[in-house]
Amino acid sequence: MRKPWYSIFYVKSPIAKIGLGILAVLAGIVLVLFLMATENKRMDAQTASWEGRSIEKGASLFIANCASCHGLDGKGLPVVAPALNSRYFFSQRIDDVGFTGSLKQYVKGTIHSGRPSKVSTQWVNIMPTWSNQVGGPLREDQVDQLVDFVLNWEEEAMAQTPEEDPWQFFQDSLSKQLPYSPDEPGYDEKVAEAIAAAEAAGAVGYEIGGVAAEAPTEGEGDAAAGPRAPEDLFASLGCAGCHNINADQTDESKGPVGPNLGNLADHAGSRVDGEDAETYVHQSIVDPGAFVVPGYMNGVMPQNFADQMSEDEIQGLVEWLLSH
Ligand code: HEC
Ligand code: HEC
Repeated sequence: MRKPWYSIFYVKSPIAKIGLGILAVLAGIVLVLFLMATENKRMDAQTASWEGRSIEKGASLFIANCASCHGLDGKGLPVVAPALNSRYFFSQRIDDVGFTGSLKQYVKGTIHSGRPSKVSTQWVNIMPTWSNQVGGPLREDQVDQLVDFVLNWEEEAMAQTPEEDPWQFFQDSLSKQLPYSPDEPGYDEKVAEAIAAAEAAGAVGYEIGGVAAEAPTEGEGDAAAGPRAPEDLFASLGCAGCHNINADQTDESKGPVGPNLGNLADHAGSRVDGEDAETYVHQSIVDPGAFVVPGYMNGVMPQNFADQMSEDEIQGLVEWLLSH
């Protein structure tokens, strides 16, 4: 009888059989080790990109909600809010206030709950409450993204000399302003730098030194993605930085920057003769100067929201504000 062609694979010797078996097991182990090693690398890369995305999202949230007080570069604004992008903040601050946890916990706690009572009388406003768990406008994951973003300044801040530390700057002299006034040397560069940072972070409609940041081309009123949800617009366009949606506007309770919007529906229809609530709120968003709420300043609310939202999105926001 002829042997089949694959008989060349027959192994007769029992020793050779055992040897082959061991080889196969070893090869299996090597393969598993190799996969484990590459998987770790893959996971690391994924963690890094996940953290990077969190910082990126934090950056847009910061520009929309925090930059008006803390400055676009986090270096604070005289009389308005302290520097966070500061060597002192990263190396000394929590010791000085007697906080025993980590800086991360300190930053998270401050953003989450705000500082309802002023620690220092140096600032005109209080630090608002941000987490929606305690009545603020942001979700907890957004608070975490902001924490990541603020802590991301550590390397830059620790490279500052004591003289460069913007925090020190405030302590030395409140009259010495950062170069945010057009008369200061370095003002033009500062503005160009701030605009570049805003654009890199995808900011929309921020005016710095009278120059509007370019609107990014993607993500904005994206037809394919459909209109953005009103509550997201309220956070991402910075409305939440100036308006409290969870508090009522009364003679006793006023918003620190813009009117509280909790009870907007009660008075929106009677603000302007001949304008119903929808018309009035729509106009308040696209043309805030048309009617200035008594007790507030004209020109504070950005004038270019009509360019930043589609008509559908504005309509959605109007309905949401009136039904909230
Ligand atoms: C209306 C102005 C204002 C806005 C908007 C604002 N802050 Fe503040 N923030 C302050 C003031 C004022 C303080 C100092 C409070 C104090 O010490 O009494 C402060 C303090 C802080 C601190 C602690 C600083 C320290 O050294 O103790 C952090 C962190 C912080 N803010 C982060 C943020 C973030 C993130 C946002 C945006 C979500 C934000 N702030 C929005 C005014 C503001
Ligand atoms: C930099 C601060 C600031 C930002 C950001 C801001 N507002 Fe305002 N807003 C104000 C001020 C100040 C007023 C009152 C003066 C006025 O009527 O123009 C106001 C008025 C309003 C009113 C009229 C309220 C009333 O009681 O009649 C509405 C509605 C409103 N804003 C909605 C929004 C929405 C929606 C956004 C985001 C798309 C927004 N605002 C962003 C500061 C701001």
